[in-house]
Amino acid sequence: MKKELVKFKYWKKLKGHYKKMRSVQMRDLFDTDEKRADKFTVQTDFMYCDFSKNRINGKTMKYLLRLAEECKLHEAIEAMFCGQRINTTENRPVLHTALRNRGNSPVYVDGKNVMPQINEVLAKMRDFSEAVRFGKFKGYTGKKLTNIVNIGIGGSDLGPVMATEALRKYWAKDINCYFISNIDGTACAEVLNKINPETTLFIVASKTFTTIETLTNAKTCRKWLVDALGEHAVAKHFVALSTNTEEVKKFGINPDNMFEFWDFVGGRYSMWSAIGLSIAIAVGMDNFEKMLDGAYAMDRHFRETDFEHNIPVILAMLGIWYNNFFNLKSYAVVPYDEYLRYVPAYLQQLDMESNGKYISKDNKQVHYMTGPVLFGGAGTNVQHSFFQLIHQGTTVVPCDFIIPAISHNEIGEHHEILVANVLAQGEALMRGKTTKEVTEELAKLGKSKDEVAILKKFKTFDGNRPSNTIVFKKIDPYSLGALIAMYEHKVFVQGIIWNINSFDQMGVELGKQLAKNILPELQGNAQGVAHDGSTNNLIRYIRRLRK
Ligand code: F6P
Repeated sequence: MKKELVKFKYWKKLKGHYKKMRSVQMRDLFDTDEKRADKFTVQTDFMYCDFSKNRINGKTMKYLLRLAEECKLHEAIEAMFCGQRINTTENRPVLHTALRNRGNSPVYVDGKNVMPQINEVLAKMRDFSEAVRFGKFKGYTGKKLTNIVNIGIGGSDLGPVMATEALRKYWAKDINCYFISNIDGTACAEVLNKINPETTLFIVASKTFTTIETLTNAKTCRKWLVDALGEHAVAKHFVALSTNTEEVKKFGINPDNMFEFWDFVGGRYSMWSAIGLSIAIAVGMDNFEKMLDGAYAMDRHFRETDFEHNIPVILAMLGIWYNNFFNLKSYAVVPYDEYLRYVPAYLQQLDMESNGKYISKDNKQVHYMTGPVLFGGAGTNVQHSFFQLIHQGTTVVPCDFIIPAISHNEIGEHHEILVANVLAQGEALMRGKTTKEVTEELAKLGKSKDEVAILKKFKTFDGNRPSNTIVFKKIDPYSLGALIAMYEHKVFVQGIIWNINSFDQMGVELGKQLAKNILPELQGNAQGVAHDGSTNNLIRYIRRLRK
């Protein structure tokens, strides 16, 4: 059994070190060390990560990285890449990295190299996506399939939604992508109202092929298609992405129209697998493979770079620093790129479903905080919503800012203003504005002494609020792959430090189970499963309103 994290040597050292660091001002650290930005920036050939605007010094990083070593992070990284069964509660290896193992070196699970089967599915995805894009695989009535509808939820939805949107500039001109995830019939109806059955390809994406939302949505879409074109049309308009051939058959999709993936791919880590078929059709398989290349570059960086220069390790350990020592419970990701606007939603599942856990791998309740609450949105929009709290709220929210140097749409001055804003936010959060500075500024503006006295505190910014700035040349398939893999590895590292299994999701089961009990009661077909008074009242009240 592993020693408890709080008893580790470097955890204790960090506790002591925190007492000294909590009052240190980043302003002063910058003023007294002109090399600070260089010291705390890592640059690779595809990414620039400036983490100098954090409440750290050299000692902080040394202790954090030593803690990572003490937690045997090196060994854990190798165990993941080598296919050991690190998803202990489900007894599975965790091999999303094999899906983008572009070097094609063998990866073994139970003595069998999984690369041939991965390559086979990639080849099948290429054939099919090209056949759809070039109009060789046509609909039942001979028309080109131009509406691609991905039906899935969670990891079978968020990756495709996020990546297709991020790569919108790469879409084939005549192809449109739609996504149906929510069980709310509105989600289905809104899409079906916009499309023509003759030109629509439904992609039913579900690892288990038992998820009620996906199966219900898929059944509704199947009926809609069959009503319009007849039962025989299904083979030309439905494909499945799954690990579960039996359930795919039961649903009425021919296994020839199924793209397989495997238990060693977690749902929220699956966009690199067949789950990415909608991405491949939208942007082309060459671009899909470039996305895999970018992720592979990040995988190699993560696996091969010493911790001092290892971007996912550094970001993860900074998260530990704030979460466990500063006791900060939330964290924001703000991409300054309209096409990346679904990245925060994607990362919510990645981070919170992976690390929102209180039982350790040793089957014990943990005595420290694990995964933070992640939120975010696209800059500059969020500057005009939740940034007030980020600047002057009573809690500190560490932020990641993501910015491409070049925009896909260089119209007018838009991109310059965008970049100026992201850099300004980092600077403002770090420096703040002292009351003295405010007073001088107000005086210059000709405010009276009384006005200054009233306003000066409201206009003061404490600053000393941390952020990381991650810069790319451009958001293209390669950089997107690298960015997402970076966050996957960051989440992995934190799971290792917290000694939790980042690869199961037992916490989502209870609600699903209770919904099954409530459903027949709402429909009036069953009575009396004892709920609490509130739930009973709500069931009764909603039934009454529906009469
Ligand atoms: O409910 C959580 C979850 O299991 C996610 O982890 C997963 O991404 C999602 O449901 C969808 O599951 P499936 O792909 O099996 O339909």
